Amino acid sequence: MTINTKEFFTYEEYKQTADYIQSKTKHQPAIGLILGSGLSHLAEEIEEADHLPFSDIPNFPVSGVMGHAGKLVIGKLNGKTVLVMQGRTHFYEGYSWQHVTLPVRAMQIMGLKTLIVTNAAGGVNLNFQVGDLMLIIDHINLAGFGGHNPLRGPNLEQFGPRFPSMTQAYNRELLKLARLVAQELGLTLREGVYACLSGPTFETPAEIRYLKTIGADAMGMSTVPEVIVANHGGMKVLGISSITNIAIHDSTSDLEPNHEEVLVAGKMVVPKLIALIKGVLAKL
Ligand code: HPA
Repeated sequence: MTINTKEFFTYEEYKQTADYIQSKTKHQPAIGLILGSGLSHLAEEIEEADHLPFSDIPNFPVSGVMGHAGKLVIGKLNGKTVLVMQGRTHFYEGYSWQHVTLPVRAMQIMGLKTLIVTNAAGGVNLNFQVGDLMLIIDHINLAGFGGHNPLRGPNLEQFGPRFPSMTQAYNRELLKLARLVAQELGLTLREGVYACLSGPTFETPAEIRYLKTIGADAMGMSTVPEVIVANHGGMKVLGISSITNIAIHDSTSDLEPNHEEVLVAGKMVVPKLIALIKGVLAKL
């Protein structure tokens, strides 16, 4: 597969993508949903669905990673019109962060005001268990500390300011709603800080202990760039991690993380995640 290594995109390119998507669906979605590794089964719940493979959409990044289905599903979920990304692309595949987050720009041009992002994440917090759901209350953009921020490059004022605040990157009203829904469903919901790493290597035990020291509860290779771009363009964001493995803190451990366990655990949490997301949609 050839990877498009283009780094920056213009408003016209984002608009071309948005116009194409809108031309292929009868729906006018209001809420975007990004489904992470092993979580794409949620899209099977969408009614009156229009399906658009990523590879058909102008400028769209296309994922080759196992567990990422790679299409847009637009339709109804619990009475709300949603645009669902079944799978996403990643920086480690060779795309720039601006390319990875292009779908969020298209959503903004299409008028979507809310984004629900999900991911598979490694648990850094040792109180967490495989199969837990974690509400993301804040993030650490470690990839950004290394100089990779999706907003690097010319600022597009049509979306937002040059120096956007990220103090409330995870919308407090949506957090409240999610807590309320979890309580009503009798669902245990963890809360914590998500750290974004570029991948594709899993972390060393020393890196895990570092992540714990700086206040991370979970870590993964996605989500934060999408959240940054969503906030820059004025969307409200809800972020949910599915804890698919517990990070190995001990340098003498014989355990190894692997992508298969991430996918298996991802599938396991899908029913809980569907219930939570449907509950939130019902209250929006
Ligand atoms: N590390 C990074 N990303 C991940 C992990 C992990 O342990 N599990 C799922 N995504």
